[in-house]
Amino acid sequence: MAGGERESGGFGVTGRVSIVGAGPGDAELMTLKALRLVQAADAIVHDALVSEEIKACFPARCQVFDVGKRAGDAASTPQAEINALLVRLARQGLHVVRLKGGDPFVFGRGGEEALHLAERRIPFEIVPGVSAMSAAAAGAGIPLTHRGLSNACTALNGFGPYLERIRWDALVGQGGTWVFYMAKRSVEAIVARLLAHGADPALGVAVVESASLPGQAVHARRLGEVARNPLPPLGAGPALVIVGPSVALLEDLNPMAGGLHADVRAVSGLSEAAR
Ligand SMILES: C[S@@+](CC[C@H](N)C(=O)[O-])C[C@H]1O[C@@H](n2cnc3c(N)ncnc32)[C@H](O)[C@@H]1O
Repeated sequence: MAGGERESGGFGVTGRVSIVGAGPGDAELMTLKALRLVQAADAIVHDALVSEEIKACFPARCQVFDVGKRAGDAASTPQAEINALLVRLARQGLHVVRLKGGDPFVFGRGGEEALHLAERRIPFEIVPGVSAMSAAAAGAGIPLTHRGLSNACTALNGFGPYLERIRWDALVGQGGTWVFYMAKRSVEAIVARLLAHGADPALGVAVVESASLPGQAVHARRLGEVARNPLPPLGAGPALVIVGPSVALLEDLNPMAGGLHADVRAVSGLSEAAR
C-alpha cells in the first residue's frame, strides 16, 4: 500500500495503521519503507527504544505520542491504552505509524496490536525491521549461525520471571546460538542455569549493549569464568546476551576487539575451537 493512500476498513474507517520496525537505533538501519512511512505519517506512536536520531526524522506536522515502556517504569503506557489510541487515531482517518524498536514481531508485541486492529477491522500492515539480535551480532562480530559451529539460533525472553519457562535441558541439548533479549539483569542467572544443565563451560557468552548506537559495548567471557570474573555492570542502554560456540569468532571478526574493552581480550583463545 503506498503512503498517503486511504482505504476504507470496517465500519467506514478511512485511517490505517502501519506497525513499523525502526531497527536497533542507528537511523541508517531503518528500511527505506520505514523511513518513507514515517515521513508521510499523520501520527506516530513510538516506543522508548526508538532513538533520538530516528525521532529527528519525524515530520514537524505530525502528531507524536511517546508510549515508551521500560521494565518497571511506572510512567509507561499500559498496552490496552496503546491499543485504544491506535484505534482512535485510525478512526479519525489518520495514517498512523506505530513505530517500534527492532522488529515488531520479535518481542515487540506487534502481534497483539495487529490482532487488536484486525478484530476492529482497522486496516493495518506490518513492516519488518532489523532486530536487535542482528545488530548485536554484526556489531560484536558474532555470526548467529556458522557452518560447522552453530546450525541453529534460538531467541529467548531473558527477563527474570521468564527464565522459569525455558526448558534448559532441551536448549542445551539442541545447541547452536542462544540469544536472550531483556536479559540485562539476569546474566548471572542465565549462565548458572546453562552450566547447571550441562552447557560446556568453555562456551563464550557475550553481552552486547546499545548495539548500533554510539555507546555500543561488548563484554565477553567463557561461561565457566563468569562466577569468578563477573561481567562488568552495564550502562543505561538496552542489552542482549549471546551464548554459543560462535561467540568465539568475535576475537577475529570484531575489528575493535583490541580496543573495545579489556574483557574482549579475555576471550583470547576462544576462537581456537572454531578453526
Ligand atoms: C521489548 S524488546 C524489543 C525487541 C525488538 N522488537 C527487536 O526486534 O529488537 C527490548 C529488548 O531488545 C533488546 N534490544 C533492543 N535494542 C537493542 C540494542 N540497540 N542493543 C542491544 N539490545 C537491544 C534488549 O534486550 C531489550 O531489552
